[in-house]
Amino acid sequence: MTAKRSFLPARFWGLSNKLIATIIAVILLVEIVFYVPSLALFRANWLNDRLRVGVVAARVLDAVPDVMALPRNLTDRLLTSAGAHAIVYRREGQSQLIELADPVTLDVVATADMRQTDFMTLMLGAFDTLFANPGRTLRIVGQGDLDDSLVELLMPERPLRQDMLDYSRQIGVLSLAVAAATAVALYLLASFLFIHPVRRLTENMLAFRQAPENGNLIITPSTRRDEIGVAERELASMEQDIFSMLRQRRHLADLGLAVAKINHDLRNTLTSAQLLSDQVATLDDPKVQRLAPRLVTTLDRAIGFAQSVLEYGRETSVPPVPTPTRMHSLVDDAAFDARLVGHPTIAFINELPLELQLNVDANQMGRVMLNLLKNAREALEAANGPAEPAVRATAQQTEDWITIEVSDNGPGLPPRARENLFVAFEGSARAGGTGLGLAIAREITEAHGGQLLFIDQPTGTRFDIMLPRSLEVSP
Ligand SMILES: Nc1ncnc2c1ncn2[C@@H]1O[C@H](COP(=O)(O)OP(=O)(O)OP(=O)(O)O)[C@@H](O)[C@H]1O
Ligand SMILES: [Mg+2]
Repeated sequence: MTAKRSFLPARFWGLSNKLIATIIAVILLVEIVFYVPSLALFRANWLNDRLRVGVVAARVLDAVPDVMALPRNLTDRLLTSAGAHAIVYRREGQSQLIELADPVTLDVVATADMRQTDFMTLMLGAFDTLFANPGRTLRIVGQGDLDDSLVELLMPERPLRQDMLDYSRQIGVLSLAVAAATAVALYLLASFLFIHPVRRLTENMLAFRQAPENGNLIITPSTRRDEIGVAERELASMEQDIFSMLRQRRHLADLGLAVAKINHDLRNTLTSAQLLSDQVATLDDPKVQRLAPRLVTTLDRAIGFAQSVLEYGRETSVPPVPTPTRMHSLVDDAAFDARLVGHPTIAFINELPLELQLNVDANQMGRVMLNLLKNAREALEAANGPAEPAVRATAQQTEDWITIEVSDNGPGLPPRARENLFVAFEGSARAGGTGLGLAIAREITEAHGGQLLFIDQPTGTRFDIMLPRSLEVSP
């Protein structure tokens, strides 16, 4: 059996780890927030307990006419039961003191006044006890049993501090246990509800991305009705779409290849037929003389069509290879190929600056120019329109663009061409046109980072080739 391959990266700090860490951190934080007040309360209770014993002792003493006459071991027992060195009872301006038989020397005395019960004082007192020097003597002051009476206890602080430390330790252990138990419980719940399904989604996406043509990798959505269920179903249908799109694209590519092959052979066959028809045209037979020109143009068109389709496949599939190119001569060459140079009726005016040089693919850009100029010539020839037919090429510069305008004073774009402008095979409104010229020109311009725009104007036709200024070759 092969181990299931994980598509997740090795150093993947997954959702589960983050979840556990966050839960523990939050619970500990909450525990700390509660710990401080609870420690202050613990200390206050502890002190009040002692004080209560002290009050009872003081009450007993108050009832005795002469404290000095009391047996020593009785007062000592009273004091030890309160855990104190000495007890002072004050009432009506008089005070009574009992202390241990062998008095203790008092070094540092800290006072805990239990008449002040506000929370801040209690918390500060707790911190004071916890972090101060452990050897201090504590003076606990509190209300006696009667309204105007006051009881003071002097006792070592150490047992209080020890009890507070024990309490803190217990709270700490308890907090950790609660945090761990909660984290585990929540983790198991979250794992079941979210982490597993999300992991399944993630792993499926990674796997599918690597082999989108494998239909087995399309996720099988569960029947969950929550957001994860929606994500699973959406992912499944997205993967379905990608899968079928890929398949379709491969089929189209295969078909395109087949068409190109057929087309290629067709063009060669047609070329042979063209040679024959040229021969036939030389015959003197008047019938042949009448039919031959039609045969020749029909064959010309068929060959032209085959040629353009072949070029469409070829031209648009290679990325441009830019070299510094003088645009004036590029336009001149294209005009020559478009049979505009030396045309008997149409004037061609090239107004591009001689020094304008751009980094473009000269072949491809030449093809753009040729297509536009050829269209202009064909339109002007077809229309017995303007008195002085002319085609003009000029260049404009803005901050970001260099625009080469190709315009003519012909009849303008026919509606059919306008509706399908730049759509391959659709845009032709001329007998024998393939409808590829503008589509090719646009694709090439865009491959250079530019745009080809049809500029609507009242007379004639104008196309703007906009190229980014970054293509400019600095002189
Ligand atoms: N300068 C223009 N004046 C008038 N019509 C034009 C002009 N340029 C293009 N057109 C119209 O736009 C249509 C589409 O042009 P496009 O170059 O894409 O295809 P085509 O010239 O018909 O065929 P191809 O160039 O592929 O042989 C043309 O058939 C023509 O009707
Ligand atoms: Mg054309």
